[in-house]
Amino acid sequence: MKLSNRLIAIANFVPKNSIVADIGTDHGYIPVYLVENNIAKKVIGTDISKGSLDKIIDYIKTLNLEHIIDARLGDGLEVIKPYEVDTVIIAGMGGLLIRDILEKNKEVTDSIANFILQPMVAAKELRQYLVDNNFEIIEEELVKEDGKYYEIIFAKKGKSYIEKEIYYEISPLLIKKKHPLLREFIQFRLRELENIIEEIKDINTEKSKERYLEISAKIKDYKGVLEEIEG
Ligand SMILES: C[S@@+](CC[C@H](N)C(=O)[O-])C[C@H]1O[C@@H](n2cnc3c(N)ncnc32)[C@H](O)[C@@H]1O
Repeated sequence: MKLSNRLIAIANFVPKNSIVADIGTDHGYIPVYLVENNIAKKVIGTDISKGSLDKIIDYIKTLNLEHIIDARLGDGLEVIKPYEVDTVIIAGMGGLLIRDILEKNKEVTDSIANFILQPMVAAKELRQYLVDNNFEIIEEELVKEDGKYYEIIFAKKGKSYIEKEIYYEISPLLIKKKHPLLREFIQFRLRELENIIEEIKDINTEKSKERYLEISAKIKDYKGVLEEIEG
């Protein structure tokens, strides 16, 4: 089976021989890829939606993989027992939902060694949560697929220190390794911010003035990071 670049980048973070929970698995592509490529010894694919879970159940039946991939219906980590898996993947959801899933079943979260997280939005808030809650962000990856950028975070329990506020938004690990997509990713974000500035610049309310200042400061910080990677 051929995975998309985003899913391959997620799978690349999975340590060899691990036991994995793929929370919100939907189609089940990641569990199947991990066992077919001998990366994981066992995978539990979960989903909150019965319709989604039925997709993976059918898929693993067709491939005769029921002995090695378990499909479970439920909310986040509530269907995983403490110490049952060593690695969790939570991908393709908002950063705030990923944060809530990690927070809701603390006993399970605390028993997991490797966290592979791919927020669709709110990566900043997710990094803030990780740093404030004793996770160490070990590595990050950035992938472009169909014109969209995806940030993938690999974390373990530990300590992280973030030097500047902007590094919650733009990963210092991507800056450090001068990731080849980082420049265009920042420029893409800058264009989004400049469009907002253009829309609100003539609105004369307190709220939009505040927002104008906030976004102008963010544009300055983004440009600072661009200088940092070019310097
Ligand atoms: C956009 S899909 C992502 C599928 C796959 N993880 C990926 O990255 O391609 C999001 C999936 O998460 C599931 N989901 C949303 N909230 C969930 C939760 N609290 N617990 C488990 N699954 C959840 C949805 O039902 C959906 O199937």
